[in-house]
Amino acid sequence: MARLALRGIVRDYGTLRVIHGIDLDVAEGEFVVFVGPSGCGKSTLLRMIAGLDKPTGGDIEIDGIRVNDRSAAERGLAMVFQSYALYPHMTVRQNLAFGLENQRMPRAEIDRRIADAARMLQIEHLLARKPGQLSGGQRQRVAIGRTVTREPGIFLFDEPLSNLDAELRVQMRVELSQLHKRLRATMIYVTHDQTEAMTMADRIVVLRAGRLEQAGSPLALYNHPANRFVAGFIGSPRMNFLPATVSPNGVRVDGLDELALERFAVAQGAAVSLGVRPEHFEFVDAGGLPGTVDLVEHMGGESYVYVTLANGERITVRRPGQTGLVGGSNVRAAVLQGQAHLFHTSEGEAAVARL
Ligand SMILES: Nc1ncnc2c1ncn2[C@@H]1O[C@H](COP(=O)(O)OP(=O)(O)OP(=O)(O)O)[C@@H](O)[C@H]1O
Ligand SMILES: [Mg+2]
Repeated sequence: MARLALRGIVRDYGTLRVIHGIDLDVAEGEFVVFVGPSGCGKSTLLRMIAGLDKPTGGDIEIDGIRVNDRSAAERGLAMVFQSYALYPHMTVRQNLAFGLENQRMPRAEIDRRIADAARMLQIEHLLARKPGQLSGGQRQRVAIGRTVTREPGIFLFDEPLSNLDAELRVQMRVELSQLHKRLRATMIYVTHDQTEAMTMADRIVVLRAGRLEQAGSPLALYNHPANRFVAGFIGSPRMNFLPATVSPNGVRVDGLDELALERFAVAQGAAVSLGVRPEHFEFVDAGGLPGTVDLVEHMGGESYVYVTLANGERITVRRPGQTGLVGGSNVRAAVLQGQAHLFHTSEGEAAVARL
């Protein structure tokens, strides 16, 4: 297994800069997920790592060796794309063998690798079929099998599950995580699905407009987002944000009473954005933020309550179990102790430190 380093990676298309200097170290055996909204540069970055595209500036190193000038084939990587790109006229076995035969690998070694990959991905019974005779999930497994047989130093995945239905996505997500554990492989996985990122990653890298916003373990990003963008991107339903001003004992949400909060390292009177995750509101009889329930979604095990506050701002509250609240109910939403986030309204909307 290999380790990867990105040093000041820049990519320009003509005068347009789409990657603005990315530095990142990926350890051997690590599962790193790139997330970010559409167009933020995830595929561009992955393609440069793969050797399918060249950076305008900066260095890519694999196991400490600069590989900018090495072809994709010389980098010892394997990539799975969103579209499976299997050869339709070949059987599954032939699809798995094709790249290896091109490398003139001995037949016995090819057969061993196909047998191993097929067993691991549970496609042994499909080896004689053609892609047209497979379901979407089976095809995707074959596409992954093709990378497994190459025994690469690093696996690269670009949204490999986005063509699958919801149930299959969940199943493949689990299988990919297990594959990672079994192979102890270095994997870089691109998605804009934050649930995939949370569940699969050792470390999540959040990108926005070609810049690295934050990198860390899923829970580190969830619990300590560095800025408002990361806070809003990680977590579903997303974090609520309310315009507020720092007051003597907490914050005053614009148009409402003061909320008593833990102390934050920011001057009184400063304009901030108060960030609260949906599960960090509770309904109370007195205090809190007054509002009216718009709608309740009953999920069975939990309930999402959509509330319009008295100042017109809307929030989502997630409560465990089932609630008797209905549309039109008057409620007061309080922030659970220690669960408020504050973000500067300028300075890159950075998180404000807690005292
Ligand atoms: N050949 C190109 N010429 C000019 N601009 C390009 C080219 N390829 C990509 N871009 C731009 O680079 C930016 C990053 O694109 P990229 O495909 O990496 O985004 P992405 O994060 O993978 O998005 P998605 O989630 O939609 O796949 C986008 O703004 C895109 O328009
Ligand atoms: Mg992409």
